[in-house]
Amino acid sequence: MAVEVRIPNGPLYIDMDGFRLSRNFTLEMYRSGLKYQPRPDDMFVVTFPKCGTTWTQHIGYLIFHKGVPPPSALDFLKSSPFLEMLGADAIKAMKRPGLIKTHLPYDTMPQHAQAKYLYVCRNPKDACVSFFHHTRAFAGYEFSDGRFEDFFEVFMEGKNEYEDYFEHVLSWYSHRNDPNVLFIHYEDMKNDPKKAVLEIAEFLDKDHHKLLVENEEMLKNVIEHSDIKSMKVAAVENFEKFFANPLEEDNVPAGLRAFHEAAKRQPNAGFIRKGIVGDWKQHFNADMNKRMEEKILAKLSQTDLIDIWKKYGIM
Ligand code: A3P
Repeated sequence: MAVEVRIPNGPLYIDMDGFRLSRNFTLEMYRSGLKYQPRPDDMFVVTFPKCGTTWTQHIGYLIFHKGVPPPSALDFLKSSPFLEMLGADAIKAMKRPGLIKTHLPYDTMPQHAQAKYLYVCRNPKDACVSFFHHTRAFAGYEFSDGRFEDFFEVFMEGKNEYEDYFEHVLSWYSHRNDPNVLFIHYEDMKNDPKKAVLEIAEFLDKDHHKLLVENEEMLKNVIEHSDIKSMKVAAVENFEKFFANPLEEDNVPAGLRAFHEAAKRQPNAGFIRKGIVGDWKQHFNADMNKRMEEKILAKLSQTDLIDIWKKYGIM
């Protein structure tokens, strides 16, 4: 069942079978994605929204394509399809090897003991700010004039799309030591991209990791082409062209066609924006910061996440 939910002064969402999503999704594809039966060689990039998914997808693409960036958004999206937006058929038809994108919490994530799950965690202050900009940018939320103070309340109560940030992170954090899970941090990736690329490659595929270790030029290309500066030019251009032009290929999965149709009015709605640690300082007032820190302490004091965020001046 799909039910529209309008938050007072906030965005328009759609609850699909009781889970909060938005007009960017369809019930049919969401259900199909949840029922997907993973293969042993599947590799997923899992995040709470706005925590570095697109960046990590590009890193994965570049690792598997030996440092050569995607020639088009269609090629990228076919190699790195979005599970719950595009449905199971898009995953079955994907170009391999590639990373499957998902924002599902652990409990609803299709599991396979041999499949790999790369979880990227970003601090909730920057995630909240990034989600605010995303929600203003896509017309379907009807929040284009929305105020940050209103979105902050939605986020604090976990009433946003994909629901509560803290529950999401904790659901995956408790599996961080599973042999098929790698739990990494957006802030660490920003701090040392080379280390992050090698760690991701080693987790995903030993052969491609070896290639990068033995080929400095290839490693340099992976890092450079996934840098925010390069992605702001090349990836943005790819997405803009993709949405501006009609889809000509016949073998485009139905979910991808629907996404193309839905998103073409907002071609690059904020997937590649500032890409920094600390943009929250431009948005949070002292009271918001106090309340967010209290929430972080209440929810995450049993984890080592606070130590990591302290290291980067977030707390
Ligand atoms: P900001 O809105 O804070 O700039 P997602 O892909 O999960 O939607 O995440 C989007 C966030 O990742 C945005 O954050 C975006 O700018 C940032 N991002 C995209 N590409 C990046 C890159 N190459 N390096 C760092 N951050 C990047």
